[in-house]
Amino acid sequence: MQNPTILAIDTSCDETSVAVTKGLVVWSNVIASQVELHKEYGGVFPTVAKQAHKENIAPSIELALKRAGIGWAEVDAIAVTQGPGLAPALEIGIKKAIELAETYDKPLIAVNHIEGHVLSVLAERRRKIAGSSPSGVTSLQIPAQFPVLAIIVSGGHTEFILVEEIGKYKRLGWTIDDAAGEALDKIGRMLDLGYPAGGVIEQFAKHGDLNKYQFPLPMTSSHDYNLSFSGMKTFARRLIERTESQHPLSKQDIYDFCASLQYAVFRHITHKLNKILHDYQNLGQVWLGGGVAANINLRATIRQTLKEVAQPQPLLLKTPYSKKICGDNAAMIGVVAYFKFIKQEFVTNPKNLDRKPRWKIDLV
Ligand code: KG4
Ligand code: ZN
Repeated sequence: MQNPTILAIDTSCDETSVAVTKGLVVWSNVIASQVELHKEYGGVFPTVAKQAHKENIAPSIELALKRAGIGWAEVDAIAVTQGPGLAPALEIGIKKAIELAETYDKPLIAVNHIEGHVLSVLAERRRKIAGSSPSGVTSLQIPAQFPVLAIIVSGGHTEFILVEEIGKYKRLGWTIDDAAGEALDKIGRMLDLGYPAGGVIEQFAKHGDLNKYQFPLPMTSSHDYNLSFSGMKTFARRLIERTESQHPLSKQDIYDFCASLQYAVFRHITHKLNKILHDYQNLGQVWLGGGVAANINLRATIRQTLKEVAQPQPLLLKTPYSKKICGDNAAMIGVVAYFKFIKQEFVTNPKNLDRKPRWKIDLV
C-alpha cells in the first residue's frame, strides 16, 4: 500500500487534535483549542485539559472524517501520541485510539510527539486539481540529504535534534529549564499580554527598539549546545519592577520590551545553532518546528545565521507549510505514522499501550 490513510490523534497538551492523512498529505486537521479555558491560569492546567479532551475527542474525530470526506472503511490505521506530554491529557487520546482500533479492527501506531514536530515540515497541503478530485497522493521521495538538523521551539520543548535518517535521532542540545515559548508566555504574563503571549510579542516587537534593553545572553561559556531561558525571566521581572517604580509602563516601553526580549530569545538560539553548524559541517538541511516556529522573525534570524556560517553549500531552512502545522496538531502525528506504517511498526498489544509522559526522541 503506497499511501495509507491514517486517522491520527494528539492530546498531549491543551489541544484536542484529530487529523486524517494520506501518505504525507493532510486531508483534514481538526484542532479543538482549550486556550480560553487555560487563560485564567496563564498556563495549562492538567485536570482542566483532561476534562476538555474528554468532551472534545469524539466530535473532533467525527469532524476530521467528515472534512476528509471518508468513512471508517477507508482508514488503514489509527495513530496516537504516546508521549511526551501531560499524563492525564495523553491518557484520553490513548484510550480513545485503543477503543477505535478494536472497534474498527485497525492497526494502532504509537507516535512520539517531538518526532511529530520534527517531521511536521514534510506534511503536504492537499491540493485540489481543477475538474477532478483532490490528488491526495504524495511523492515518496523525501527531498532531504541526511543528516538534517531539526530545531524544535515550542511552549514545552526547545531542542536541537540530529536526524540521521527518519526514525533515527540524536538530541544534541535542549533547554535545561524553561522552553522558549514558555519563557515568552511567562514574561508576557508579567506584562498582561494574555495567554499564550508569543504571537502578541511578535506583533508588538515590530513597533519596538530591540536595542533598548540588554537582556543577558545565557550560557555563552558552556561548550555544549544546551539552552536556558530562566535568567531572562528574572531579568525581565527586575526590569519591569525598576521601570514601574519610576513611571507607569507606556505603550512604547512595552513595544521596546517585546522587541528586546524577542531578540534575546532568538539570539540565544542562534548563538548555539552557530556552534552546531561549525561542529557539524555535513548537514543536508535544517528543519524548524514547534509553535514558536510560526514566528517570522525567528525564521529570518535562523536563515541569516545559516547564510553567515560557511558551509560547503548554502543550507536550506524548511518550515511547515502553515502556522497550524507549527503548533500542536495531529497531522504531524499522521506524518510520523506514515513512515511507521511503511515499516509495519504497529503496537503489538494495543490494550497495554500506556502513556510515556517523558519520552525522549532518541529513544523512539
Ligand atoms: O507547539 P505549541 O503549540 O505547543 C507546545 O507543544 O508547547 O507551542 C505553543 C507555544 C506558546 O508558548 C506560544 O506562545 C508560542 O508557541 N507561539 C509563538 C508564536 N505563536 C505561538 N511564539 C512566538 N511567536 C509566535 N508567532
Ligand atoms: Zn508540541
